[in-house]
Amino acid sequence: MTVVVTGARGLVGRAVTRHCADSGDDVLSYGHKDLDITDRALVRQTILDNRPDVVINCAAWTNVDACESDPKRAFAANAAGPENLASACKEVECVFITISTDYVFDGNKPDFYTQLDEPNPLSVYAASKLEGERLSRRTYGRSIVVRTGYIFGSGGTNFLSTVVERIRKGERLNTISDTYGTPTYVRDLAARLRQLAEKDVSGIYHVVNSGPGANFEQFTRRAVALVGNRDTVVEAVSADALNRPAKRPYNSRLRCLLTEKIGLPPLRDWEAALEEFVMTD
Ligand SMILES: NC(=O)c1ccc[n+]([C@@H]2O[C@H](COP(=O)([O-])OP(=O)(O)OC[C@H]3O[C@@H](n4cnc5c(N)ncnc54)[C@H](OP(=O)(O)O)[C@@H]3O)[C@@H](O)[C@H]2O)c1
Repeated sequence: MTVVVTGARGLVGRAVTRHCADSGDDVLSYGHKDLDITDRALVRQTILDNRPDVVINCAAWTNVDACESDPKRAFAANAAGPENLASACKEVECVFITISTDYVFDGNKPDFYTQLDEPNPLSVYAASKLEGERLSRRTYGRSIVVRTGYIFGSGGTNFLSTVVERIRKGERLNTISDTYGTPTYVRDLAARLRQLAEKDVSGIYHVVNSGPGANFEQFTRRAVALVGNRDTVVEAVSADALNRPAKRPYNSRLRCLLTEKIGLPPLRDWEAALEEFVMTD
């Protein structure tokens, strides 16, 4: 396949680029500086010039707190950006995959969220991502929206990606213990994105590793056990104590109702994925 990857220097974009290249695809990988997805004319020209089989949009403004004070920028990158891509993909009739977030939900459900649950974003970031979902699907019916969350993997700068390195350095770790999600290994996510491109069945998918979900404290304690540095001090903190500008859902665990219907097995348990991350990173 010829695959265009946007946001290709980010955590997910890098994993997708590598996975597709390893799978033998012709990968055209665009970082933010190469292709700003808010530039509608450039997006159109790039897609028309390359005529890819698949576009995987990994670009987004992911600074959840900063989005609160700049909704215009958040909606440009996270809503208009995917719309621009969807529109260009429609012209060349290729598969379009765009990534969304578990944060579209408000967290009030005590159970896992499925596609049947109504989103209710708590933050500007989440609202902009939800609008990106809607605009993509409205613009191009063939769009595939992939909601995911609590991503960890090599080269990431978020807490779950850096915690293993911090354990190895012997740092003391403050971990949020009252907010639950479904940890997702970026390599597993990248492989699933490519499988979804091959299946080419439009819709909203929830792509996360299996298992009961976790909070940051549970994830960190499991990582400590796997690294074997038992002297690490892990402190539990409440999300509210951090006084962050953007609200996050207390529960954003995801489950998918569609994946198995299109013949794909659930992803492995997050603890098995974390073990691979610890052993190979
Ligand atoms: N990380 C998570 O836990 C998580 C959870 C749920 C969903 N997601 C979703 O997963 C996707 C990938 O996120 P990630 O974790 O890989 O984030 P990331 O590491 O921040 O990567 C996002 C990339 O998009 C680029 N970007 C920002 N604005 C852009 C624009 N207008 N045009 C082109 N590129 C732009 C960024 O470049 P600059 O840094 O140079 O601006 C960055 O390289 C996003 O859709 C995100 O919402 C992530």
